[in-house]
Amino acid sequence: MTNSSITGWGKCLPPTVLTNHDLEALVDTNDDWITSRTGIKERRISHVGTSELATLAGKRALAAAGISAADVDLVNVATCTPDTLIPSAASLVQNNLGASNAGAVDQNAACSGFLYSLIMACGMVEAGVIETALVIGAERLTYFIDFTDRGTAVLFGDGAGAVVVQATDEPGGLKGSEMGSDGSVADILWSPGSGTATNRVELESDHKRMAVSMNGPEVFKRAVKAMGDASTRVVDQAGWALDEVDILIPHQANTRIIDATARRLQLDSSKVFVNIASYGNTSAATIPIALTEALEAGRIEPGAKIVFAAFGGGLSWAAAAYEFGSRVEPLGETDEELPPTEGDVMSLLAENFAYFGGGPNQ
Ligand code: UT7
Repeated sequence: MTNSSITGWGKCLPPTVLTNHDLEALVDTNDDWITSRTGIKERRISHVGTSELATLAGKRALAAAGISAADVDLVNVATCTPDTLIPSAASLVQNNLGASNAGAVDQNAACSGFLYSLIMACGMVEAGVIETALVIGAERLTYFIDFTDRGTAVLFGDGAGAVVVQATDEPGGLKGSEMGSDGSVADILWSPGSGTATNRVELESDHKRMAVSMNGPEVFKRAVKAMGDASTRVVDQAGWALDEVDILIPHQANTRIIDATARRLQLDSSKVFVNIASYGNTSAATIPIALTEALEAGRIEPGAKIVFAAFGGGLSWAAAAYEFGSRVEPLGETDEELPPTEGDVMSLLAENFAYFGGGPNQ
């Protein structure tokens, strides 16, 4: 059977930084608490829409794969924060890239979304349905964050990451996968006012219902269990011994969740990729950003045995055992950048403060 190979990778982080110290002016929190409880030091706030972040990550992934947009059969964008519900973010990306031969679809499995999309794209490639997919995780989650709620304000950031998945005769590819969901506790991590169940008249007088709301400790417990269980099961499916795993690239929601997942896999911290300090939780974008940075840092050898694991709203979770291909260097790069932004981070968030309330030293 044909295998699927990740042949390109790229990321796009908006330049504006919101530090833990900046947050001290917005909510009752402090750098010590955020660092020790989450591992996060700073996160990015985007001045452009989700599809623009996704497009640049996608261009960088195509350049790394050495292919043109016309070679892509499917643009799949994992996001729960598209620019618009109609059209999809993927359609906007398809047009921005000039991917004239591609279908385009968004997938929403919240923070697990990129892994869902990757697993489905690999399956379609391996089944011969398509030859080349551009799989992107992109989020502008801070649009839905109420910066008066310290339970969520300190956690999330914006960004995008992308991979190209291509058919190959090389060994490797997806060796084990799991996608899971438990909708019975959907309301422990949700944005109740963000869809068609919303009474729009009531939303007018209660904007907070549009914000992401989370019962942190309940989500934490379930994340530790689901990511640990799913990770061990995909390693088993792959037929790997635990000590054969070269690297864990987990969803970046909390270093304590990452540490617990690594312990379940009996992995030393040198085999775990963590970049949460710089970007916080970018939801569906964390794993493709982390994979890109792991490759850039030389942390992935040819043929590396990788475990991916994620958990998020839904509740949803996913894990994959993935054997990387023989090329770990990009074939090319693009010098394109996001348009420049003016003003500081607080002015960028001014519209958010006007909607949800709060702001510096409120
Ligand atoms: O990607 C999607 C999946 N999301 C996640 O996986 C997130 C999972 N949850 C978490 O990561 C953690 O639950 C949090 C980081 C959100 C919270 O950490 P925690 O250790 O579970 O803290 P907690 O909610 O149990 O709160 C402990 C204390 C409380 O004070 P008291 O009652 O002990 O006096 C909170 O009020 O910390 C307080 N607290 C804060 N203090 C300073 C809660 N948030 C903050 C804050 N700054 N931002």
